[in-house]
Amino acid sequence: MNYRHAYHAGNFADLVKHGLLLWLLARMARHERRVLVVDTHAGSGLYDLGEGAVRSKEAQAGIARLMSAARLPNELAELKAAVASRNGGGETVRWYPGSPLLIADSLRKGDLYVACDLRPEEHDLLAKRLKGRDGVETRQADGYGVVQALTGGDRRRLVLIDPPFERPDDYVRCAETAGALMKQDPETVIAIWLPIKDMETFDGFLRRLTDAGVQRALVAEVRLRPLTNPMTMNGCAVVLINPPESAQAAAQAVCEWTAIALGEPGGRGEAWWT
Ligand SMILES: C[S@@+](CC[C@H](N)C(=O)[O-])C[C@H]1O[C@@H](n2cnc3c(N)ncnc32)[C@H](O)[C@@H]1O
Repeated sequence: MNYRHAYHAGNFADLVKHGLLLWLLARMARHERRVLVVDTHAGSGLYDLGEGAVRSKEAQAGIARLMSAARLPNELAELKAAVASRNGGGETVRWYPGSPLLIADSLRKGDLYVACDLRPEEHDLLAKRLKGRDGVETRQADGYGVVQALTGGDRRRLVLIDPPFERPDDYVRCAETAGALMKQDPETVIAIWLPIKDMETFDGFLRRLTDAGVQRALVAEVRLRPLTNPMTMNGCAVVLINPPESAQAAAQAVCEWTAIALGEPGGRGEAWWT
């Protein structure tokens, strides 16, 4: 396992994932029912994007442009506010919060959050960053396994599955885990992040998801450019299972902004149901 999210934090794909994650959390918080959030692949929680010459290029092409954008859809304005609050309120970004801090900051009294990371170094940082928070627990463990043992009881379960995809079996494990979670509790809300390099792999994943028993999902898809070079990440998608009402409009707004503001000619962003 070599993947380090620190090299990619704040890139366009994080913006899509984290914009939609904040939207989901806010929507679910409108209901009285408490929430159990499980982050199967949490990462270390907070990323130092560096200063001056060492600034992360991916973040410069991502969060730095979002922070200075003249117009943003509401769904991304919330992410902007969350990032600004970690950086003294201004538009200059040194620290980028990962899913753990975004989730932990959104919890209400009675909500629970379990954050998993398998790598000891990432987990140590994660545990340090979440230490002392009510209702928050970290596990240095395989997130695919942990989530299936956490049913939520009275709480509605929200699961973020965000693997590094450095192993080819991540596609299979994501689809099988989503299928197993839906069988356990069909009301579970699931967000799966995926890279898009070529259509064959992406379509193959969606077929696997159907085979695993997930009949319907909302695909929030961003292509930064046409998929002519399958060796590079040309885009990303967040597959949403059981999202709250009006998710399609929210996802469309996030994807369109990202493709237009950060993409190249021939890119596009859209949200569609399988
Ligand atoms: C893409 S990063 C997570 C980023 C994070 N979700 C965020 O949005 O800020 C993927 C993480 O998964 C961890 N990882 C890899 N395999 C895992 C597994 N089977 N279970 C839990 N964590 C795993 C890696 O160490 C890495 O930190």
